Amino acid sequence: MFDISHIHAFGEMDTPFYFYDMDLFRRTVAELESLSSRHGIKVHYAVKANTQERLMRFLSSRGFGADCVSGNEVLHACACGFAPENVVFAGVGKSDREIMESLDCRIGMFNCESLQEISVINAFAASLGLKAGVSVRINPDIDAHTHKYVTTGLYENKFGISRHEFEPLVDLLGQCGSLELRGLHFHIGSQITDVEKVYSLECVRAAEIVRWFEDKGLEIRNIDLGGGLGVNYEEPDAEPVPDFATWFRTIERNLPLRPGQTVHVEPGRSVVAQCGTLISRVLFVKSGETKTFLILDAGMNDLVRPALYGAYHKVENLSAADRSAPAEDQVYDVVGPVCESGDVWGAGRLLPLSVRGDLIGIRSAGAYGQVMASRYNLRDLAPAVFSDDLF
Ligand SMILES: Cc1ncc(COP(=O)(O)O)c(C=O)c1O
Repeated sequence: MFDISHIHAFGEMDTPFYFYDMDLFRRTVAELESLSSRHGIKVHYAVKANTQERLMRFLSSRGFGADCVSGNEVLHACACGFAPENVVFAGVGKSDREIMESLDCRIGMFNCESLQEISVINAFAASLGLKAGVSVRINPDIDAHTHKYVTTGLYENKFGISRHEFEPLVDLLGQCGSLELRGLHFHIGSQITDVEKVYSLECVRAAEIVRWFEDKGLEIRNIDLGGGLGVNYEEPDAEPVPDFATWFRTIERNLPLRPGQTVHVEPGRSVVAQCGTLISRVLFVKSGETKTFLILDAGMNDLVRPALYGAYHKVENLSAADRSAPAEDQVYDVVGPVCESGDVWGAGRLLPLSVRGDLIGIRSAGAYGQVMASRYNLRDLAPAVFSDDLF
């Protein structure tokens, strides 16, 4: 349930804005920290999920590493206190500038996604007289059973190096005198909910591939299994802190390690999704020919996931929760103000009778929300509000 004191504090504040429940965020991070250290797993926060400095500084202060997918994310992670040696940089299309800046920062590892990229990083590192740490991202051809836009580990996807290039890869690494191979990297997708099934498959495949490279004489000290742990979008209050325990237990049971080998993971969504809510207001209630539209002041430019992936976010009328008399539920198509028919928060949603000015919470919006916002229709960007600042 949304905290009534928070709803009161929102009072007359301008909407829309992203609200971050910092108590829940700290609780989530504490759980991740204690379980990862118990299982000996090293965590790199996937910066792409949310780049808010307050959240990132807290994560870096707890000793987590950062997983970045652009040069600017690398620079931002370093500016937010992440130790450069704990920063990894993945992505299929790293530009020359991004590679050089990351070498200058002395990041821990480039997660390389093609043979050509490996050659380019080797040449740049040689020109600077450095040895660059690299890990090779492998495409393990595993179905993560998630939305096709967030599936990354199948041969049809652009990510990672696939089996037909393993032999040439071994030859190439042998010729790259300015690289140090630190490990192998896998990331098969996001919003994975069938945790035991999908991650046990990933672990078994990763173990096979690690063994193949070790048989070729390469030392694989780090095995990075990527991120992807899903969250409960339907009922966020039933599972405010994601089930890190099952994820780590599955990894421990299915990925045998040699002495000196370390497992890494890169969670993004599971760290920040549930602490974030997009707070909006009802602008108008409009009777259509066949349905009633609840028109909010937050739109797809503020949070694009429903329009982009057909993603579900729970929509709650926060003002109704604060009214003394319980209102009867009505069916609404909850929509945004953007001039696109796809700007829909949810069709046929059951909500308490809602009126102009009611505060509406779009839940589980902390991940892939604010970072994907745009100024489409020249709308203002929704700012961030942190619970720590409210009282
Ligand atoms: C390489 C890499 N690692 C980690 C993540 C984080 O995934 P998630 O937010 O699902 O945990 C992503 C996101 O797609 C990614 O591309």
